[in-house]
Amino acid sequence: MTDTFRELGRTGIKVSTVTMGCWAIVGDATWGPQSEQDAVNAIHAALDQGVNCFDSAEMYGNGYSEQILAKALAGKRRQAVLCSKFSPQHANSWNDLLDACNNSLQNLGTDYLDVYYLHWPNRQTPIKTITEWCDDLRRQGKIRAFAVSNFGVGDLGDLLEVAAPAVNQLPYNLLWRVVEKEILPLCRQHDVSVACYSPIAQGLLTGKFADADAVPESRGRTRHFSRRRTQTRHQEDGQEEATFAAIRAIAAIADDLSCPMAELALAWLIHQPGIATVIAGARNPGQMAANAKAMTRTLTPETIARLNAATEPLKAAFGNNPDMWQSTDNSRYR
Ligand SMILES: NC(=O)c1ccc[n+]([C@@H]2O[C@H](COP(=O)([O-])OP(=O)(O)OC[C@H]3O[C@@H](n4cnc5c(N)ncnc54)[C@H](OP(=O)(O)O)[C@@H]3O)[C@@H](O)[C@H]2O)c1
Repeated sequence: MTDTFRELGRTGIKVSTVTMGCWAIVGDATWGPQSEQDAVNAIHAALDQGVNCFDSAEMYGNGYSEQILAKALAGKRRQAVLCSKFSPQHANSWNDLLDACNNSLQNLGTDYLDVYYLHWPNRQTPIKTITEWCDDLRRQGKIRAFAVSNFGVGDLGDLLEVAAPAVNQLPYNLLWRVVEKEILPLCRQHDVSVACYSPIAQGLLTGKFADADAVPESRGRTRHFSRRRTQTRHQEDGQEEATFAAIRAIAAIADDLSCPMAELALAWLIHQPGIATVIAGARNPGQMAANAKAMTRTLTPETIARLNAATEPLKAAFGNNPDMWQSTDNSRYR
C-alpha cells in the first residue's frame, strides 16, 4: 500500500495523495452548470474520505471557487490544507500581490493560506523579487509556503538559483506524460514536490466519452484534439486516434483489475516517483468519494508497466512541449 499523506517539499505541510481540485465547481464556460450544494457536499465528502487538501485559484470563477471553499469549510478550516494561486499579472508589483493575497484570504474566510502558488510564470518581474515578496507574505503569517505552477526547466532552473519552491504544479496524467521528459527529473533532483493537475485528463480517463466526437467542444481544447475544434488555441492536427486507442487500452487493464478507470489513472500517478499529490476535480460527493479511493489502491509493477506501455506512443507523439493547450511556437513553458 502507498502512503496516504506526503510532505510538500521540506515545509512540514502534509497532504493527502489525492487533493480536491476546485476549478470545475464554479460551473464556468469549460465545465457547464454546477449546483453549489453539490460542490459543498463534495468538499465535505473529501474530508470524510481523508482528503485534507484543496486546490483553488483567484481566477477560478473570479474568486467564487475560494468562496465555496469558505462556505463548506466554515468551522473546519484547521482540518484543511488550503492552496490558492495568484495570477502572473499580480506579480508585477508588491501592492498587486498583497491585494491578491488579501482578496484570496477574504474569499476563503481565513487569515492564512497553506500554499500560495504563482499560477503561471511571470517574466516581467525578476523571480528573485517575487520570492522575496512571498517571503514577506510568509513573515506576515499570510502564507505558509510559496509554490509555483507550470514552471518548465528554464523557469524552474532560474528559480532554483535563488530559492526552492515547495511544489511545482504540472499537467500530468496517463494521456499527458510530457513532463516525464525533463521537468520531473529536475524537480526530483531538487526535492521540489510535484502536484499533478488534470490527472484524469478532464474526464477522458473516466471512460465517459466513447470517442472524440462525444467530447463537448468546451472540453476538446487540449492538444489531444484537432485544431478544427472551435475552442482550441493550438495549430496542431491533434492526436484523437492515438488518444482513444490509449483510452481503450487503459480501459481493458482497468477491466482486468475490476478497478474503475479514474481510480486506476489516479493510482498510477500516485505511484510515480516525486509525486506528492494528484489534484482531481470533483463536482459532487460521488465523484469525490470515487477519486479518494485511489489513495489506498496499490498497483503491482506489472500493472504500472502495462499502463506505461499502453500510453508510450501517445507520450512520444506529443514531443517535448508541456503546454496542454498551446503549440510549441506559443508554448507558455520555458
Ligand atoms: N495550475 C494550473 O494551471 C491548473 C490547470 C488546470 C487545472 N488545475 C487544477 O487541477 C484540478 C483538476 O484538473 P481538471 O479539473 O482540469 O481536470 P481533472 O481533474 O482531470 O478532471 C476533473 C473532471 O472530471 C470529471 N470527474 C471527476 N471525477 C470523476 C469520476 N470519479 N467519475 C466521473 N467523472 C469524474 C468531472 O467533470 P464532469 O462531471 O463535468 O465530467 C471533473 O470536473 C482543477 O480543479 C484545478 O484545481 C490547475
